[in-house]
Amino acid sequence: AKLHTVAKAAGKLYFGSATDNPELTNVQYISILNDSATFGQITPANSLKWDATEPARGDFNFSGGDQIVNLARANGQLLRGHNCVWHSQLPDWVSDGNFDAATLTSILQTHCSTVVGRYQGEIWDVVNEPFNDDGTMRSFVFTDTLGSSYIDIALQAAKAADPNTKLYINDFNIEGPGVKSTAMQNLVKDLKSRGIPIDGVGIQAHLIVGELPADIQQNIEAFTALGVEVAITELDIRMDLPATPDKLAQQKTDYQTVVSACNNVSECIGVTIWDFSDLVSWIPGTFPGQGAACPWDENFVKKPAYDGIVIGFQ
Ligand code: G3I
Repeated sequence: AKLHTVAKAAGKLYFGSATDNPELTNVQYISILNDSATFGQITPANSLKWDATEPARGDFNFSGGDQIVNLARANGQLLRGHNCVWHSQLPDWVSDGNFDAATLTSILQTHCSTVVGRYQGEIWDVVNEPFNDDGTMRSFVFTDTLGSSYIDIALQAAKAADPNTKLYINDFNIEGPGVKSTAMQNLVKDLKSRGIPIDGVGIQAHLIVGELPADIQQNIEAFTALGVEVAITELDIRMDLPATPDKLAQQKTDYQTVVSACNNVSECIGVTIWDFSDLVSWIPGTFPGQGAACPWDENFVKKPAYDGIVIGFQ
């Protein structure tokens, strides 16, 4: 069974993967990525971020983004654009520019409308990681200058650029109930009450083997009850290395748990893994001593986690 095929059979819109430009030269990697029965959706992991797309003011560069979007379209795979506005991978010209509120508003509008407008009819993580883990708004140049109104500005600019793009806010540590999930729910309620366009909440799901939050499904339902859809946007489940049969078996169970939570909620539209092979995963570079987080190993052999995903869609 192939993953996008089983997701579609379960009524989901897609099963997908993140990818990145340097990996596209690996022939084993690309043959799996290009298989649209396995992946019905692609997220560029880096090449649509602000540092890549507007490295200097008004100087847009879509070479990396176009490479991945063209590949996805050739394969008939949906795009999740990632992202319009985020505190990380934000170029210094934005962060350190000392712009006044009106100028920074215009900069944000231009950026969001240009990146979203380029690729019509897709899905975008317009706002990425707006919250601290305690549920307060994250401090960075946009909140420091514009307060939380930067979220309205970004969403409205994206909507104006493409009325048919689904607009998401995406964050981590909102997989289970807690103060950060509550803060996201309050934000969604506030946006809806004021008529600001918002279509969905992205739950990243960078998780740890054996340490999944309880009540993932209930938490998804708490979002969909507000009239937005949900997607699992960046799933990976890491472990302390080395991988052992026991850890890989627990990882299979954990992948199944997350996929099944989405599968059981009709408004949870799909699941994206944050790349599919341990060879290219971001985890070892960020969490030394941890890894083996993906459903394929570093030799592109399917791990038990693969079957966990399939079972999760049944
Ligand atoms: O582009 C430079 C390159 O010029 C330089 O030679 C090289 C040397 O380190 O670094 C390259 O930049 C790296 C970039 O990925 C592109 O490969 C950065 O160092 C590296 O930090 C960056 O990591 C990305 C990370 O976001 C940054 O926060 C990961 O690949 C990417 O998978 C990760 O994705 C994020 C999501 O966007 C949001 N949610 C969390 C997720 C994991 O951190």
